[in-house]
Amino acid sequence: MNAIDIINKKRLGLTITFDEIAYMINNYVNGSIEDYQMSAFLMAVCINGMTDEEIFELTDIMINSGEVLDFSYLKDNLVDKHSTGGVGDKTTLVLAPLVASCGVDVVKMSGRGLGFTGGTIDKLESIKGFKTSLTKEEIKSQIEEIRTCIVSGNDKLVPADKKIYALRDVTGTVESIPLIASSIMSKKIAGGAKKIVIDVKVGKGALMKNKEDALKLAHTMIEIGKKYNVKVICVLSNMQSPLGYAIGNGIEVKESIDALNGIFAKDFYELIITLASSMVSLGLSITLEEAKKIVCSNIENKKGYNVFLKLVEKQHGNINMIDISDNTYEVKSVKEGYISKIDAYTLAGVSNQLGSGRKSIHDNIDYGVGLWLLKKPGDYVNKGDSLVRVYLGSKKINDEDILNSFTFTKEMPTIEPIILEIIK
Ligand code: URA
Repeated sequence: MNAIDIINKKRLGLTITFDEIAYMINNYVNGSIEDYQMSAFLMAVCINGMTDEEIFELTDIMINSGEVLDFSYLKDNLVDKHSTGGVGDKTTLVLAPLVASCGVDVVKMSGRGLGFTGGTIDKLESIKGFKTSLTKEEIKSQIEEIRTCIVSGNDKLVPADKKIYALRDVTGTVESIPLIASSIMSKKIAGGAKKIVIDVKVGKGALMKNKEDALKLAHTMIEIGKKYNVKVICVLSNMQSPLGYAIGNGIEVKESIDALNGIFAKDFYELIITLASSMVSLGLSITLEEAKKIVCSNIENKKGYNVFLKLVEKQHGNINMIDISDNTYEVKSVKEGYISKIDAYTLAGVSNQLGSGRKSIHDNIDYGVGLWLLKKPGDYVNKGDSLVRVYLGSKKINDEDILNSFTFTKEMPTIEPIILEIIK
């Protein structure tokens, strides 16, 4: 068996065997296959796809490339969540404590931001002292006390994904349904999840640009789940415009605290209620409607917020010290009309220029900077009205880029719903 024959087979659109996939993945992880050969293989998969059987086999090989966690001591109500990544996506910060307050265990392993997507771990580290690395014993005791923790991903889980994802990022091979499905599901299954809610983002600011592809990805992940006796619910959500108000790190924590106290942008509220209800319904084996009632009342009575405060305290963070720049100014509209769209991708780029994100995993980030939307799609704007508050650090941006990310119409536009479909 050799890499060139396997690459050629995939290039010709032929089906490859379990042993051939294992040969590629395992030899890439141990360094015997070079980046250039793996890149060619990944590109062939992007172009020609994989059969369902190949996707299951690839997922299985990825899972077994590292450690597999076992949370069976948590009985049956452990629920995980995942998002395919979006701009201003701070949902984990709200969902973990809110869902835990409803009686469901949530051990959330999260990552750092890279490229245009932010990372939950970076957001949490804007809270002074917050510790994102916990031992297995610390996780166990925190779950027993408050049912939730948010920690950085365990380096020993799915090492194949770590290496392959970094290569995909720089070779134009991220946007492939077989590769995305196996990447996400291998991490979730190796992380010990038995019930998962996945937020599949659709739109300009997302990996899946249209609903048809998002549906395909959702069904693929649900089918992988069935093979492992893992129940998966996929929520397809719109990602044309940034989610909520904030794009940045410290300011996204602030927006999450507001949300746990009942103050939300409409799109963020609808997404949180749908994802939280899906998680609670899975965890407690109750209907979505029953779950929604508990979720809404735990926002109103602040039970979710109280769990958030305990989570921050237990993980050594100081809730009164969130890094948010006090050097701010507002960008004002030079046009008037209804806002029909706000380009999420462009604003993520502006926020990154301010220093909120990194181009390489070794870059330092500025937790205090970012953009706060003062207007959302559907709002009417007069010339001179403030559109965005900029939280400045040491780096400058061009305000034109912010202004150009807003599209205006004369008539009230139709605003697409945030939730497109729920698939079980
Ligand atoms: N998120 C992942 O974890 N993997 C992918 O391939 C894409 C999004």
